[in-house]
Amino acid sequence: MKYYLETYGCQMNEADSEVVASILENSGLIRTEDPKEADIILVNSCAVRENAEKRALARLSQYKGYKKDPEVMLGLLGCVPARKQDQLLEKYPFIDIIMGPDSYRELKKVLSENQYPISNTELSNQELYDNIEPKRQEGLNAWISIMRGCNQFCSYCIVPFTRGRERSRPFESIINEAREIAYQSIPQITLLGQNVNAYKYKDYRFPDVLEGVAQVDEIRRIRFMSPHPKDFTDRMLEVMKKYDNICNHIHLPLQSGSSKILSAMNRTYTKEDYLELVNKIKSILPDIALTTDIIVGFPGETDEDFKDTLDVMDQVGFDNAFMFQYSPRPGTSAAKHLEDNIPYDTKNARLQKIIKKQHTATQKKNQELVGERIEVLIEGTSKKREDELVGRTESDKLVILKAGQGNIGEFMDVKIIGTAGVSLFGEIPAKSED
Ligand code: 5AD
Ligand code: SF4
Repeated sequence: MKYYLETYGCQMNEADSEVVASILENSGLIRTEDPKEADIILVNSCAVRENAEKRALARLSQYKGYKKDPEVMLGLLGCVPARKQDQLLEKYPFIDIIMGPDSYRELKKVLSENQYPISNTELSNQELYDNIEPKRQEGLNAWISIMRGCNQFCSYCIVPFTRGRERSRPFESIINEAREIAYQSIPQITLLGQNVNAYKYKDYRFPDVLEGVAQVDEIRRIRFMSPHPKDFTDRMLEVMKKYDNICNHIHLPLQSGSSKILSAMNRTYTKEDYLELVNKIKSILPDIALTTDIIVGFPGETDEDFKDTLDVMDQVGFDNAFMFQYSPRPGTSAAKHLEDNIPYDTKNARLQKIIKKQHTATQKKNQELVGERIEVLIEGTSKKREDELVGRTESDKLVILKAGQGNIGEFMDVKIIGTAGVSLFGEIPAKSED
């Protein structure tokens, strides 16, 4: 029997899909990259914005055609089932398997069950998939999920409802997994959690995890996603400074630059707190690359509020940003209590404005790197051009090189020779320049 698995959404979903793959393969299924060949077609979905949800459901409807063969089973996994639960089967009666993020162990049943649909969207306070070794698909980065769930309840966010309460993996188990990854010669680890700074296991906190993983020999790059600004401690910065293999990059979600909107979002920090934290980070880690997430058009966002967001962008100078229009998520406190009162055109105009601003800032930052020599991990051949390789700097910037200048998985000392949009062009310096 063959399964096909497609993943939408955040890195946590990517990591979960590796757990799903492991469970299925341990039950004897074989992966296929062609849905036409599959006996089981699974879509791991994201519910963070309405568009993401629509995309996953549209995909599933597309696969309905493959069910002409009655043996073929269709499954929806992840955050959409956790949010929609029973309503799903009413609207999409052709789905055979419905599993929320905490129910993947039940997939074992898929092979033995003969009563469909099977559905489990219950959330757990304990599930960590701790004893399941993820089936990793790529050789250069290993996700380690260190905690699951979220207790923050930002007013716009569906995650606490789809992924349940915070729980942290045992410290020793994380370090053992990091050692195993090093043994497999995977050069990069990304530690994942909805809010990694909320990690709490016995007396261990996130800086202990970061330090413990940094001490594992052979791990060349360590990344983490995402820390909440309110929980960012000095100890984190000390650990980041102490270990060269922790990447000089922090993804620090801003969401809004207006203290009024931040309060309505229940972010529990103000514009000033955020800027103060950024200044502290920059003073301890002067070369740090900062990236962020921003939402525009949250209920009640005035032009003045939006100007605060622009102002924070100017003051911080983010290296990159993921930017979104507010999308009300049924069940969240913002959707319940605040009217989605910013017209689409205003939301869109604000979004376009920050995208343009960020583009200019990214280009300016990239220009400053021209002439520098930077370590790049070669990740693969460019999707657009076969005669180009793409690699990544420690600060998470893409670098394009001519093919033949290095091999996938190699760390190269690259000279930056130019910029292309938001990417960099590099070359391997001639020996005489060494
Ligand atoms: N509308 C728009 N963007 C959202 N995000 C989370 N919830 C929403 C929403 N309801 C964004 C936040 C978060 C990122 C993963 O998605 O910026 O950091
Ligand atoms: Fe959502 Fe906020 Fe939790 Fe992030 S910290 S997952 S934005 S509730």
